[in-house]
Amino acid sequence: MSVPSSKAWSAVAIRPVLKMGDPRLWQRSQEVEDFAHPELHSLIRDMEETMRHLEGAGLAAPQIGVGLRVVIFGFDSNPRYPDAGSVPYTILINPVLTPLSNDVQEAWEGCLSVPGLRGVVPRWQHLRYEGFDQFGRTIDRTVEGFHARVVQHETDHLDGVLYPMRIRDFRQFGFTDVLFPDSPAVD
Ligand code: NI
Repeated sequence: MSVPSSKAWSAVAIRPVLKMGDPRLWQRSQEVEDFAHPELHSLIRDMEETMRHLEGAGLAAPQIGVGLRVVIFGFDSNPRYPDAGSVPYTILINPVLTPLSNDVQEAWEGCLSVPGLRGVVPRWQHLRYEGFDQFGRTIDRTVEGFHARVVQHETDHLDGVLYPMRIRDFRQFGFTDVLFPDSPAVD
């Protein structure tokens, strides 16, 4: 465990989200080994509170400066992604991703660490992901579409990859209010 906060035992907190340019976002995060550690559960509560506050579709621990392989994601409906349908709320630790076909789909993404921007990013369409929940219980799912996209985006954060690094056509990268002037303001 390398949770840096000396206040990890205190009440749930909305934590500042690191923005692109911060070198901590380029680092590879470490596997969680102790699922019983209280600081893991405090970290997850802070991530939940932060994601909810910012209406994110997902959040990875390194985005709040904690270099552990922990991501959360999911929503019923999300104003940042109105066409995305729903994704079950999930806490995913030490994820392992396996693409199940060669199908790649391009779609718009944003990121709380890259505020005000959107880009078209290629992702595997069909995906198996494995990992653990916050109690160390196994997660093993086969998913597709936006659910698969969110998992790939969040897991990228654990390897120091932000979505702009995967954009193929930079004409499809820009400011949200210019690209989508009729959408409600986000970010
Ligand atoms: Ni992100």
